[in-house]
Amino acid sequence: MAIGFEKEKRTFTLQTTHSTYQMKVDDFGFLVHLYYGGRTAGNLDYLLTYYDRGFSGNPSEVKNDRTYSMDALPQEYPAMGMGDYRSSALIVHNVDGTDCCNLRYVSHEITKGKYGLEGLPSVYAKEEEADTLKILLEDGVSKVQVLLLYGVLEKADIITRSAKIINRGDHRIIVEKAGSACLDFVDGKYDVISFYGRHAMERNFQRTEITHGNYVIGSRRGTSSHQYNPGVVIAEKDATEDAGRCYGMLFVYSGNFMFEAENDQYGQTRALMGLHSDLFHYPLDKGQELVIPETILSYSGQGLGKLSQQYHKCIREHICRGRYRDQVRPILLNSWEAAYFDISGETIVNLAKEAAGLGIDMVVMDDGWFGKRNDDNSGLGDWQVNEEKLGYTLKELTEKVNSYGVKFGIWIEPEMVSEDSNLYRAHPDYAIQIPGRGPIRGRNQLVLDFSREEVRNHVFEQICAVLDQGNIEYIKWDMNRSLADFYSMKMTQGQGQVTYDYVLGVYEFLDKLIERYPDMLIEGCSGGGGRFDAGMLYYTPQIWCSDNTDAVDRVRIQYGTSFFYPASAVGAHVSAVPNHQTGRSVSLHTRGVVAMAGTFGYELDPGKLTKEEKEEIKGQISKYKEYAKLIQNGKYYRLSNPFCDSVGAWMFVSEDGEQALINVVMLEIHGNMTVNYVRMKGLFPDAVYEDEAAGRCYYGRALMEAGIPMPVEMGEYVSYQIVLRRKNK
Ligand code: GLA
Repeated sequence: MAIGFEKEKRTFTLQTTHSTYQMKVDDFGFLVHLYYGGRTAGNLDYLLTYYDRGFSGNPSEVKNDRTYSMDALPQEYPAMGMGDYRSSALIVHNVDGTDCCNLRYVSHEITKGKYGLEGLPSVYAKEEEADTLKILLEDGVSKVQVLLLYGVLEKADIITRSAKIINRGDHRIIVEKAGSACLDFVDGKYDVISFYGRHAMERNFQRTEITHGNYVIGSRRGTSSHQYNPGVVIAEKDATEDAGRCYGMLFVYSGNFMFEAENDQYGQTRALMGLHSDLFHYPLDKGQELVIPETILSYSGQGLGKLSQQYHKCIREHICRGRYRDQVRPILLNSWEAAYFDISGETIVNLAKEAAGLGIDMVVMDDGWFGKRNDDNSGLGDWQVNEEKLGYTLKELTEKVNSYGVKFGIWIEPEMVSEDSNLYRAHPDYAIQIPGRGPIRGRNQLVLDFSREEVRNHVFEQICAVLDQGNIEYIKWDMNRSLADFYSMKMTQGQGQVTYDYVLGVYEFLDKLIERYPDMLIEGCSGGGGRFDAGMLYYTPQIWCSDNTDAVDRVRIQYGTSFFYPASAVGAHVSAVPNHQTGRSVSLHTRGVVAMAGTFGYELDPGKLTKEEKEEIKGQISKYKEYAKLIQNGKYYRLSNPFCDSVGAWMFVSEDGEQALINVVMLEIHGNMTVNYVRMKGLFPDAVYEDEAAGRCYYGRALMEAGIPMPVEMGEYVSYQIVLRRKNK
């Protein structure tokens, strides 16, 4: 058992291979946090200190003991109203107008296996891989209960946290704020690493000191967003890529979230991850409960690189599911940047012919194939194949594509409706808008109210009717605007909250779709990487990383993405030059090297390429196929920080350390150029590795300690791929 309970001291200890997490129920029944960090032993309650702190309140039953204050003690699930003036994990609004929730320990349960969350994605594991701890807390007056859930995946060095808020009282309560994980550190100086961005420039790396005052990031957009990713690292000040203590907090959720970090008045640090408190007032009547999405915690004492690898493995093996989880994904040729809305059946057939000639596995018919859809102003919601525009039925088109030995996939955007559509004309109330106010449009489209079952069912039937027409083996599930009018008919009846119920509606739809089409590969997308989160990865094992296909920007976008998400999840394609988003021209070779850091594909019209370019693409494809397994399942190492270094460099090493693929893109070029050395990682120090192409052997130790010099060559954004194989055993 990775979870222990020491009865006399009422202490819970959660052990993973390299970390320990400890908490205890104290004399007053409060659940206080003791420790999270490198693996240790024994009871750590000596870490708690008690001093008379001015202006920090003392709970009623401690009487005149001024040294006991929730304002100074580290806690597992701090609730508002108990004299802790830091940010709370929970705010409950009671019928008497108060916001107090006084949570005390009631009972606990330790079981084998990992708990699941109804209606929400969460880490899964085999019975023998995980243990679960459930701790029940209650407010004795309001009878509000909180069930804290902890999942421990010992070997994977993963601890998950979630919570259920249950109303056992007689009166309605409103949950105003609910988190799933709080980390209180009594000591240490920390930085927070977060990933900010915008459409077509997601997940930029930012590292800042956690100072006095609250550091807050989050999303109020209804989705996890391009702007801030729901994954954050807390790193000790001196932690680097390869050394030092750091902690990850990854929210397994695709809607509004909030992360807060604060260095308090006593120099202690609190980090909180959970649902965003804005646009959130969740009513719970007697007997009702609310499940808070899970946060995946992980600790590394060996820097950020190790932490990322722990998350990669966890996502690959305990989040992603389905037939494609461990399979090499098909190489795609997508019609979007090849033809945009100007597609016909012939366009797709031509792409299929080209794909067959080049060795590409699948053609994807992107936007524009349904309803009246020649631009982005109409047609969403009308999931009927526009046979007139295509000149084919879907069955005919699929058969034609398959006849070249190429698989076929299509794009859909189920959550949306255009006002200029038959669906909207028939059911205007299906769209989210606030009665009496004009709707806020985004890309000239409205969002369907997926919190309502009848709306979901209507779309589901239409989409299934399309998917049943032919041999469709892939769908790209898109979502191209942020939510803005946070209203649902159910809210006027005092039920639920659209911000949360919408997301659960999307998950339910995806669950049904997967159940009906278990072999379908689904790629997530939201204007590229606007919903790139662990919640979506539970349903879609890969996500289109960004609408920005510029190879140089992608080096940075993929760098930021790599902190939590494995290469197997990152949709990355080679596109035409000048690039359609930036106007920049980069060699085909470099575009290939960068796209080979994810699930590989093409986003261009091969018919417009020269014979030489096609030959080069054939070479790229056979190279990708040769190393696809290594890329998808190997250990990923960041070798540079492309936000400040003059090269972008990363490598994949096979689990057994026998093989490695090193990728380097030169980001700067100057007159009389200086030499860049790239130091490798993850090799056996005493083994000899052969670079067959260069006809050279090196000791692993030399490659890791001294690195190798990259050639000085003329031209911008030159790139290199080095393959190493271990020679001696
Ligand atoms: C979004 C996607 C693109 C493409 C378009 C189609 O922007 O990210 O890849 O599918 O929608 O409208």
